[in-house]
Amino acid sequence: TRVAVIGGGRSCEHDVSTASAASVAAALDHSSYDVVRVSIDPHGTWLDGCGRPIGLAGAAHVLRSCDVVLPVVHGPHGEDGTLAALCELAGLPYVGSGVGAGAVAMDKWVTKLVAGAVGVATTPGVLLTATTAATYVWTHPVVVKPVAAGSSHGVSLVDSPAGLAPAVRAALEVDARVLVEDVVGGREIDIAVIARPDGSRWVSPTLEIVVDGLFDFAAKYDGDADFRIPAVLTEAEQKALEDAALAVFDALDCRGVARVDFFLTEDGPVLNEVNTMPGFTATSQVPQMYAAAGLAYPDLLDLLVRDALA
Ligand code: DAL
Ligand code: MG
Repeated sequence: TRVAVIGGGRSCEHDVSTASAASVAAALDHSSYDVVRVSIDPHGTWLDGCGRPIGLAGAAHVLRSCDVVLPVVHGPHGEDGTLAALCELAGLPYVGSGVGAGAVAMDKWVTKLVAGAVGVATTPGVLLTATTAATYVWTHPVVVKPVAAGSSHGVSLVDSPAGLAPAVRAALEVDARVLVEDVVGGREIDIAVIARPDGSRWVSPTLEIVVDGLFDFAAKYDGDADFRIPAVLTEAEQKALEDAALAVFDALDCRGVARVDFFLTEDGPVLNEVNTMPGFTATSQVPQMYAAAGLAYPDLLDLLVRDALA
């Protein structure tokens, strides 16, 4: 089976996607798949496996020579449904969520509306743009973040009125819309879901992020955070998290695998966000979560590729 692995991407998560794609490609290569690498540089230029520019038409030609596409691109211009759209238009099977789920999950504001509609609590938040930002009055600690981004780019914790304007400016550099969210106390617990072609769902063990302070870019990628898999939970907490993850996953119509991130508060799970193409190195969260369930990294990839072809 010939698999096209797409990495990189025109977003602030370019380097993270490059790392994920390299891991994925190496593992598939090892398990006797015929792997074809394609990448997108930070400016949006398509490159072949040797790093030569090939243009969109060239990339489409390469993708068409493959049986299935694995778009390992986090963030806007990739995870947001755009690569799924390319595959759909080219008539190519691909791993992961479709256009709608990718687009909605990338939009943290719309995700809140969908989650709320299916009874899943989300962080109370206010939407700001460059024109409305000045109307916001700071009264309590908040997290300021771009509506569409990932890996904590443009995210800041604001615990004084003076911090607000620079935080909003930083977030506006990443996206034209900004969310100002209340700080939700509670444990940070993630759960992943795989959708199988027969309609069944495979919910992963929970993963708790044990970190002092904000789980920001440095904590994510400089190894400052500890993962506890599974999280130590009561049966009721476990069930509430699984139910909420499935409700959101299904409401968005996610496919392949998605990671659903929660804060577990005294009032139950509060959704933080949904990642339709979560970090995918061998030591990233989702591979570790399924490894804890007995599914090794190469087998997880094999499952996702076979399901995409089914
Ligand atoms: N956005 C990063 C890659 C993640 O969610 O894992
Ligand atoms: Mg994310």
